[in-house]
Amino acid sequence: MTPSAPGSRIAGKLGLTDRVFAGPRSRKLLAAVEAGLKRVDHALERELRVADSLADATSRYLYEAGGKRVRPMLALLTAQLGDGATERVIDGATALEMTHLGSLYHDDVMDAADKRRGVPSAHAIWGNSIAILTGDILFSRASQIMARYGDDAIKLQADTFERLVLGQMHETVGPQEGDDPVDFYLQVLSDKTGSLIAAAAQAGVIFSNGPTEFEAPMVTFGEKAGVAFQLLDDVIDLSADPDETGKVPGTDLRAGVPTMPYLVLGQRTDAGSVALRARIDDGVARISDGADPAILDDALAELRDHEATQATLDLANAWSREAVDALTPLPDGPVREALTRFAQAVADRSS
Ligand code: IPE
Ligand code: IPE
Ligand code: MG
Ligand code: MG
Repeated sequence: MTPSAPGSRIAGKLGLTDRVFAGPRSRKLLAAVEAGLKRVDHALERELRVADSLADATSRYLYEAGGKRVRPMLALLTAQLGDGATERVIDGATALEMTHLGSLYHDDVMDAADKRRGVPSAHAIWGNSIAILTGDILFSRASQIMARYGDDAIKLQADTFERLVLGQMHETVGPQEGDDPVDFYLQVLSDKTGSLIAAAAQAGVIFSNGPTEFEAPMVTFGEKAGVAFQLLDDVIDLSADPDETGKVPGTDLRAGVPTMPYLVLGQRTDAGSVALRARIDDGVARISDGADPAILDDALAELRDHEATQATLDLANAWSREAVDALTPLPDGPVREALTRFAQAVADRSS
């Protein structure tokens, strides 16, 4: 596959371009963002070259497999509040996408996920050590790019990455005694996913010399939209069409990684819900003892059609509305309109 698939096609996978840039007022904005996404892709292509031939192949592997470029798109959008897609904005968006990319290598090891972006995950090809080390290379490269722009940029990168890692760690260890499982998990989602999407929204403002008073609202916007985005990821884990998502449906739950529909199911006390939860737990235990992951097919299909999954979608919509509320300080116009549609699209997606 060609390494530099045009941004419009990539974002089009989420229906983002059609939805975010609907309406005649958005045509100029769409052209600017699409041009920016192409530049980000060229920068990724360039910055992912490694002299070591194995590291070069492994580092480019998931980039070449695709991806929606949600974070660069958001940075490019919020950059329109300032001077637009300056070199700094392109580099910042590239570094944040590279951070995201690195986190995917690690995440697939942790979640024992066989597929990513429609191809075998990196660890399935090269083993866990090479996949983890490749993620580390990408984090190093992202830091090198940010370091070109001084202390504030590198601090944004480091602080964001720390939150992402702690989110992954808290997801791994799970809630402790006294923690409400749903509240705990929402914090996990904020940290592991909201942090990076918030950083993308913030970077667009900072790196384009945008008005400082828009920085905090954009952080809030990104954080809330990021949680909505991740809640949909949990629903997609259940209902995924593998051709569309490039992932194996039910990967997280089969591996015992809790997701929001499962946690909401755990709050329900009716006999049917309790029995379904017990069947899922039993299947997870048997899979970890070596049973065929397909033993959970029926139970996961039931969870997909359960009210708990609808409740997760409702929750995603509530977070999306809160993201939209954060846009209040922005002037009316195409950028605010596109950000509104962005928040709505991430909470209503199938890939
Ligand atoms: C996947 O992110 C990991 C999450 C934080 C949900 P994306 O859904 O943005 O993945 P790509 O970049 O399109 O592959
Ligand atoms: C991924 O979360 C979060 C990060 C990579 C930081 P998930 O594990 O839920 O995402 P997918 O479903 O594998 O993309
Ligand atoms: Mg995962
Ligand atoms: Mg994960």
